[in-house]
Amino acid sequence: MQCPFHGFSWKLDGSLGHVPARWDFEHVDDSQWSLPEVKVGTWGGFVFINPDPNCVPLDEFLGALPQHFARWDMEGRYIQGHVCKVVRANWKVVQEAFCESYHVGGTHPQAVPYLGDVNSQVDIWDTFSRVITPGGTASPLLAWEPSEEDILRYMLDIRVDEETFVSLAPGQKARAASAAAARERWRPVVGDLVDEWSDAEFIDNIDYTLFPNFHPWGAYNRIVYRFRPNGDDHTTALHEIFLLAPFSGERPMAAKTTYLGPDDSYTEAAELGMLGKVFDQDGFNMPMVQKGLTQTAKAGSTLATYQESKVRWLHQLLGQWVGE
Ligand SMILES: [Fe+2]
Repeated sequence: MQCPFHGFSWKLDGSLGHVPARWDFEHVDDSQWSLPEVKVGTWGGFVFINPDPNCVPLDEFLGALPQHFARWDMEGRYIQGHVCKVVRANWKVVQEAFCESYHVGGTHPQAVPYLGDVNSQVDIWDTFSRVITPGGTASPLLAWEPSEEDILRYMLDIRVDEETFVSLAPGQKARAASAAAARERWRPVVGDLVDEWSDAEFIDNIDYTLFPNFHPWGAYNRIVYRFRPNGDDHTTALHEIFLLAPFSGERPMAAKTTYLGPDDSYTEAAELGMLGKVFDQDGFNMPMVQKGLTQTAKAGSTLATYQESKVRWLHQLLGQWVGE
């Protein structure tokens, strides 16, 4: 690797290689002039890097997270889709928009008939957290009471003049019917293993966050988010969505990345399907939240809320991280 400025070069192991006019650098101790190193660890098919040479080993940092995912075999999946979008908001603002369900009623009102947004359970561990939002159940904030068929129709985005393509058996709940449909969808790929999986694993949103920026969804949801600063610009960020799917037989090729600019709609990434429209609703908010950060502040506005426990936890850890 060669520096384009004066032509110093380094070997692939990071040690110092060639120094032009070496005689002029008698003071240089080669062992002190290696390239910066990062610590590397792997889990679940993911590679983690940490620029802090004194960081704890990844296994220790992950704590019980691998046990939580042991049942779901992240390593046995392939990249079915990968989208990377520039968002006009700080990377912390962007991940806040994707780590809780309290915003569903305001931002995604179409989901309220089938998503128990504020009935979510939020759990915080040391370096990771989780929110479980029950699917196939109505939000307690909904002003009317949907029937089981209503729940199913909203869930499947079926219009008033369209037939329901998943039917309810007498007395069957929407939750059970949609879990049964999902189970059959996965059966050709993973076989009868699907019979061991609970309805909750198919229907609920089980969204984990590993500090500081990694969000693998639990169970058989394919979503994994990663949020990163966009270079040195603190007012924009990279929102990455990986769709990780199980496969049978030979591992399929990983999908090519779809790059989206700040003015592109998430719907331009066809691989996101219905999620594209949902993410556009989140995308409408984030630049305004960013703008708001520089305008006013309400002290302690999320200090006590249960719904925003994950956001509070993220900021508490970030505070410790930067030495506040
Ligand atoms: Fe959202």
